[in-house]
Amino acid sequence: MLDITSLKKTFLDELNSVTKLAEIQQLRVKYLGKKGLLTSKLKLLSALPPEERRSLGRSVNELKDLIETEIDLKESLLGEKERKERLVSEAIDITLTGKYTPFGREHPINKVLAEIADIFVTMGFGVEEGPEVELDYYNFEALNIPKDHPARDMQDTFYITEDVILRTHTSPVQIRVMEKVKPPLRFIAQGKVYRCDADISHTPMFHQVEGLMVDTDISFSDLKGVLEAFIHRIFTPETPVRFRPSFFPFTEPSAEVDIGCIFCDGRGCRVCKGSGWLEILGAGMVNPRVFEMVGYDPEIYTGFAFGMGVERITMLKYSIDDIRLFYENDLRFLRQF
Ligand code: DAH
Repeated sequence: MLDITSLKKTFLDELNSVTKLAEIQQLRVKYLGKKGLLTSKLKLLSALPPEERRSLGRSVNELKDLIETEIDLKESLLGEKERKERLVSEAIDITLTGKYTPFGREHPINKVLAEIADIFVTMGFGVEEGPEVELDYYNFEALNIPKDHPARDMQDTFYITEDVILRTHTSPVQIRVMEKVKPPLRFIAQGKVYRCDADISHTPMFHQVEGLMVDTDISFSDLKGVLEAFIHRIFTPETPVRFRPSFFPFTEPSAEVDIGCIFCDGRGCRVCKGSGWLEILGAGMVNPRVFEMVGYDPEIYTGFAFGMGVERITMLKYSIDDIRLFYENDLRFLRQF
């Protein structure tokens, strides 16, 4: 029997219970597909006598039209509904506060290192590098620092093996460069150095800048001229400079260089311990024994060397009273430079 009425009712019931877009497609196949319920009814028509075929054919086709229209309608309604639901569930709440990713800042130590390099480069100095893990030979021996020198004390030096240490200063770069090239030469070397030491003005790692100039007739006045020019640029052209006799195994004569205290203008205060002066670097004329170690003839060549602590210079330049601030990387601190 071609029960069109009950087929229509079944279809409408099923259509009513459809709630998802995916189910609509299944329904379409079930009724209108090649082996669909309606399609098979259409096939049966050909077996009927012409009279019945015509009237039944019309109702089957009407049902087919109805099913197609209803399915299309439901499909577009469900599509719209699902699109709206997705818009709501995927909505971004633009009123929420975002994640704050602060920009970093150039570190004041790097800034001052660059400034120092710049000053010496304009005076014709090159820039060299050396390893932070260094041989005892370069760090001490070749710099005329004998085995019993206090600087080699286990308490100051980080030992890796008996012969390998963390460099305690940038002076070994002097030796490494002189071993490679013949005079005339002038360069600075910058970098990290390590000492087993920690308080408000010392950290186990800090930075130094080393300088070396060697030629056939370098004198102490060349050293004075270069260092005064440097100090007047890194501080101010009015900054007083004084050379004080001192001792370093690798220079002879040696000096320590002071600048007029920038906190009290030389009148004497707590920072300069009442002296009116602040020590900022060590320097001197290269000890002939160092030249001998690298195969330079001390009868032909003379030279000067100097070394300074970059943290100390930066602290003085910017009136920073605690060295540890450099290593906390608090942006409120770093933003001030
Ligand atoms: N290396 C010394 C230190 O760390 C600083 C120094 C002094 C370097 C005199 C030099 C120099 O080149 O001539 O205390």
